[in-house]
Amino acid sequence: EKGTYPHYMLKEMDEQPTVIRKIIQAYESEAGDLTIDAAILHALQDADRLYIIAAGTSYHAGLIGKQYFEKMAGIPVEVHISSEFGYNMPLLSEKPLFIFITQSGETADSRQVLVKIKELGYPTLTITNVPGSTLSREADHTLLLHAGPEIAVASTKAYVAQVAVLAVAAYVTAKANGQGLEFDLKQELAIAANGIQTIIDSKDVLEDIAEDYLKIARNAFFIGRNIDFCVSLEGALKLKEISYIQAEGFAGGELKHGTIALIEEGTPVFALVTQEAVSLNIRGNVKEVAARGAYPCIIAMAGVDEDGDRLVIPPVNELLTPLVSVVPLQLISYYAALHRRCDVDKPRNLAKSVTVE
Ligand code: M6R
Repeated sequence: EKGTYPHYMLKEMDEQPTVIRKIIQAYESEAGDLTIDAAILHALQDADRLYIIAAGTSYHAGLIGKQYFEKMAGIPVEVHISSEFGYNMPLLSEKPLFIFITQSGETADSRQVLVKIKELGYPTLTITNVPGSTLSREADHTLLLHAGPEIAVASTKAYVAQVAVLAVAAYVTAKANGQGLEFDLKQELAIAANGIQTIIDSKDVLEDIAEDYLKIARNAFFIGRNIDFCVSLEGALKLKEISYIQAEGFAGGELKHGTIALIEEGTPVFALVTQEAVSLNIRGNVKEVAARGAYPCIIAMAGVDEDGDRLVIPPVNELLTPLVSVVPLQLISYYAALHRRCDVDKPRNLAKSVTVE
């Protein structure tokens, strides 16, 4: 029930800190360490390559999962859009493990890949929010998101849960493989939960940004580099799906290879700056678009922020920034949709789970 909330989406965004705390609890061992089911850990350790299969927002979470497994655990990962995978199967490694990321566990495009992969006899793991869902029942293993029911068509808390659970799985695998990680993920997730709360507590700032940048916009761009690029794709999807403003997420450096031609006087460009190693590069991209008339909105993490950034978000571990940086983008989309009097929870032409291929 949405209780006093005007929309499920707002309620679900507000639940995000709690969701992260629930995930910490759900994946905590008696000794207080993070842990996952032994059979799943063995499957992950056994694989020479992970193939993540997903659609929409879950695909965007998968792109971040790739970074986690590669950077923490040193396991190579490919991420595939499920609807493409069926007829465009890549060459497979010797010992692949297939990971299906799906909030609903019912997405037909992802299920058709699961059916095919099972015929081929490869091991499968579903990461889902819905215990007993089709993709959970049909895969060898399941990791649950513990996000609680997500009713709004636009996925918010499930995305944050997917990113957190992928981080846990990669971290636990890395530890089991003896990789020397210098941080305690449990602590870092708790910090991220608090960071999200800080943003949620200052919603009025995001409402102002939405009004300022998007009230009359025809289109908008989201840019970022590295992990911020993955989040920019999700920010653009959120805005498109609920406000119907045409939006695209881009790798900062890619804009000048064509898309910059679309920048006009006043075009909103949201730039994420959370990664120190590329912060100067992305700031350079902001200058390029600003010089062509764009109206840039820099969302930077504390520590890599500068004077003039429109929003500064609380600092978290560099790998976990998506958990926090996505939240202002969700809220900006929400308020943009409200300003435009769109049906936030049930956008036109969309269903919560897409059960046709
Ligand atoms: O239930 P799933 O995670 O498999 O759904 C995949 C996509 O249909 C879903 O993420 C969709 O893109 C959302 N409406 C995005 O907010």
